[in-house]
Amino acid sequence: MAPWPLLQQRLERQVVRIKALVLSGGKGTRLRPITHTSAKQLVPIANKPILFYGLEAIREAGIVDVGIIVGETAKEIESAVGDGSSFGLKVSFIHQEEPLGLAHAVKIAADYIGKEPFVMYLGDNLIMGGITDFVAEFQKNKPNAQILLARVDNPSEFGVAELAGGTVVRLEEKPENPRSNLALVGVYMFDAEIFEAVDGIKPSARNELEITDAIQRLIDTGKEVRAHEVTGWWKDTGKLDDILEANRMILETISRDIAGTVDSASRVDGNVVIAEGAEVQGSVLRGPLVVGRGCRIVKSYIGPFTSIYHDVTIQNSEIEHSIVLENSRISNLGSRMEKSLIGKDVEITKSATMPKAFRFMVGDASRIEVP
Ligand code: TTP
Repeated sequence: MAPWPLLQQRLERQVVRIKALVLSGGKGTRLRPITHTSAKQLVPIANKPILFYGLEAIREAGIVDVGIIVGETAKEIESAVGDGSSFGLKVSFIHQEEPLGLAHAVKIAADYIGKEPFVMYLGDNLIMGGITDFVAEFQKNKPNAQILLARVDNPSEFGVAELAGGTVVRLEEKPENPRSNLALVGVYMFDAEIFEAVDGIKPSARNELEITDAIQRLIDTGKEVRAHEVTGWWKDTGKLDDILEANRMILETISRDIAGTVDSASRVDGNVVIAEGAEVQGSVLRGPLVVGRGCRIVKSYIGPFTSIYHDVTIQNSEIEHSIVLENSRISNLGSRMEKSLIGKDVEITKSATMPKAFRFMVGDASRIEVP
């Protein structure tokens, strides 16, 4: 039998009635062309979709009911998450006709949320330490809203908070002259006061209902907005470099697990995960890295901080610090590929007929750097 404080903690966890609202719509313009065809929240980090880390953190905090805001990529998100039972969650999907802002997402979720407080989680954010302490602090202090903050070097690129003690006195979206280095991280808690606040604001210059404006309105109408500082690392994975950085951070935490087959001509060093059904022949793999099921790695070098999703073939090539999505084929590259994000069903190979010529068939808004 567990000691009394532990039992009490478990009981308290079971009665967490609050819901979570996870934002998984949006335009994802900064991640085109990947987001032309896929949801950015499903880009795998160490071979697990970004969104799943968030759903696991929500369940870990004792929350069961989750409403997921979906937009153009609704089908993909719905089929990846299902009814949420594989996470121990009860998931409902809330359709947002157009990505009209984070506060707009709150507005359309009003019926789902009801009168209880809720946690709002941006589906493209990764928070290493989870959100359990954040939710517990809200439940202890019961303010009208609570925001999560992190100290950053470049506050002008974020929503920035000004504090007096633990209370937030002002929020500014991407200020030219930031008053602090405390940036808003994509997790918030609100009570039902937020619905009046989102009804009271107007669209911003970019024609979105901004959550910072809604929170500022709470402050201006005398409501209590408190702040909680992140202790571990976090990432908003809206941009390529941040996705690669998140991939690096998560891969730092994996343990070696080789279920696939590795021939005797190959060398596998460090924390390497090779899923069942993957084959490695005549290659050097230097972890941390993950190779998904059904992959074939032949006469290649896969370097640290690389995630190869399932059914990928890599031949006679060198890859480092990259993410490759399913069914892609990379062969005879000639130079090392690094810091890259390769979409699904992509083929990259060396041209046999045209030495010293590049030949591309590339989708809209792709980015290619050549030496
Ligand atoms: P953002 O990254 O701020 O916006 P975005 O997805 O439109 O991307 P970009 O700026 O590159 O065009 O959105 C944060 C999260 O919230 C993300 O998971 C998408 C989601 N979101 C919605 O669900 N509805 C919305 O109206 C908006 C603006 C975002």
